[in-house]
Amino acid sequence: MKYGLYRNFLAGLLLFGGAASFAIAGWDDPAAIAKGEELFARNCAVCHGVKAAGKPGVDWKKKLADGSFPPPPLNGTAHAWHHSPKLLDRIIAQGAKTYGDAYKGWMPGFEKKLDASDRLAILKYLHSLWPEEIRKRYDKHFKLEE
Ligand code: HEC
Repeated sequence: MKYGLYRNFLAGLLLFGGAASFAIAGWDDPAAIAKGEELFARNCAVCHGVKAAGKPGVDWKKKLADGSFPPPPLNGTAHAWHHSPKLLDRIIAQGAKTYGDAYKGWMPGFEKKLDASDRLAILKYLHSLWPEEIRKRYDKHFKLEE
C-alpha cells in the first residue's frame, strides 16, 4: 500500500516532468517564438519580407539577371520546410556558403551576429508561421535536433 502510493507519486512526477521539458525544448515555446520574431524583423525581413512572406512582386522561383535566386518566403509557401532544422540552422549561420563555394548565392551568414540560441529562436518563429498541415508533416519527419 505504502509502496503503491509512492509509485503513483513517482509516476506523477515523471509525467509532469516530461510534459514540462517538452514545452521548453519543443517548437511551441512562446518566449523563444517572440524572441525569434523580433530577431527576424531586425535581421531578415529586409530581404525575406515582413513576417517572412517574401517581397511583394518578387517571384522567388525566377533567377535574377546575375543567375542568383531572390530571397524566398520562409513562411511555408516556399520550400524552407523541406530542410531539416540542422540544415536551416546552417543556412542561417553560414548563408550561401552552406551550398559550397561554386554556388552563386548571396544569403549572408549570421554566425557572428546570432548565436545558436538566437538562431533556434528564429527557427521556432518560422515554424510557427507555417500552416498546421505543413507543421504536422515536418514534425513527423524531423526532430528539432536533426
Ligand atoms: C541580404 C539579403 C538576405 C538577408 C538579410 C537574409 N537572407 Fe536568407 N536568403 C537570401 C537569399 C538571396 C536566399 C536564397 C539562397 C539561394 O538559394 O541562393 C536566402 C535563403 C534563405 C534560406 C533558405 C530557404 C530555402 O527555402 O532553402 C533560409 C532558411 C534563410 N535564407 C533564412 C534567413 C534568416 C533566418 C535570415 C535572418 C537571420 C536571413 N535569411 C537573412 C537573402 C537574405
